[in-house]
Amino acid sequence: MNSDRLEQSHKLFELAKSLMPGGVQKARRPSNFSQNYPVFMERGKGAHIYDVDGNEYIDWLLSYGPIVLGHCYPKVDQAVIVEINKGFLFDLTPPLQLTLAQKLIDLIPCAEKVLFVNTGSGATSAAVRIARIYTGRSMVVRWGYHGWHDWSCPSQAGIPRSTLRDVLTFSYNDLDSLENVLEENGGKVACIIMMPLEIELPKPGFLEGVRELANAYGVVLIFDEVRSWPRMSLGGAQEYYGITPDMTTLSKGIANGYPISAVVGKEEIMAVAEKSTISATYFPSTLGLAAALTTIKELEDTQAIDHLWRMGKQLGDGLKDIIEGKRVKAEILGLPIMPFLIFGRKADYDKVWYERIYQGGDPGTKEDKRLMNSFYDETIKRGVFFHPRHHWFTCLSHTEDDVRKTLQVTEEALDIAKKRI
Ligand SMILES: Cc1ncc(COP(=O)(O)O)c(C=O)c1O
Repeated sequence: MNSDRLEQSHKLFELAKSLMPGGVQKARRPSNFSQNYPVFMERGKGAHIYDVDGNEYIDWLLSYGPIVLGHCYPKVDQAVIVEINKGFLFDLTPPLQLTLAQKLIDLIPCAEKVLFVNTGSGATSAAVRIARIYTGRSMVVRWGYHGWHDWSCPSQAGIPRSTLRDVLTFSYNDLDSLENVLEENGGKVACIIMMPLEIELPKPGFLEGVRELANAYGVVLIFDEVRSWPRMSLGGAQEYYGITPDMTTLSKGIANGYPISAVVGKEEIMAVAEKSTISATYFPSTLGLAAALTTIKELEDTQAIDHLWRMGKQLGDGLKDIIEGKRVKAEILGLPIMPFLIFGRKADYDKVWYERIYQGGDPGTKEDKRLMNSFYDETIKRGVFFHPRHHWFTCLSHTEDDVRKTLQVTEEALDIAKKRI
């Protein structure tokens, strides 16, 4: 391990382990990355972040997605400061909620009514609750990551068996597997909640088929667009693919990092939220509302979404050329706005390769894994922050220069990694 470069990070990690279980949150542990990654970050500006030892990185993870404009984006931070100076959490409702609700209704195809919460898990859990009330059924069919609450948690420890029994899943791009689940549990399924896509793109007809199956079985279709909105388009993946779900959850990217999330959906379904208690102390905070309104305005004014696609395409195309030129066994998957680099060939992976990545493993051969670890050891040392086991993100602050530097580092890192194995 390169201890000089990361001295403070490692010192703090030792302290952290004495204070908190595991030291730092699971998704942010060194075991998720590679040997030379820092553990503690200090600041960020635009598309660049700085660790506690003062090392600078081009950030392609963007805090797992919320930073859509760039870190420390002045217009958004200014809007938040205005709210701080007025007081931002009151006994009653701030009118800013109405402005943001109307904006989301204008932008998102399925949005007729809106509920605001604080986190992605809060939004997906609220959507599931609403679907259960609306249908009078309890089972949930899900695909993708939806957060840490009981019904959606990827690990089973501490989750009641009855909850686990009520949650089923299916294989992406496999309509038969979805139909089988619905058929076997006829009349008991409240909703299908799914990310419209992650690193596999939907095959032609897949999302249409999901919509048809939801209709046929009387099941509420929820698109979890916590990651895809607004990056794909200001109307989300549902606008991009032309498939309208019944409800949608939003969070990352809505407010450039300030905590806020939302459930949007058809009026008739959303109306039953009244029968439940979906309420928390911090839901009415104006910090996230002001940040969201400013972020969305900035996305519109700067045509940021086009920029996100352009940066992702330049990065992905450049990486593909380098990989091919060096005859490395690796592939770029996913959409340019959320590219994912795998080592090895997807065609050679087993059926559960996706799950393997989710559990922190790697699907390739031993040699693929060694190449991968070496590659990420070298890219991070040279100031490029990629995630080895998660797709990456682009933001408005990424520049062509960032892409150029990233590609140059990639080339150097691949050369070293290839020599090493
Ligand atoms: C698609 C999706 N849904 C829900 C969540 C949960 O959001 P949060 O971590 O804010 O609870 C995430 C977080 O990564 C996500 O990617």
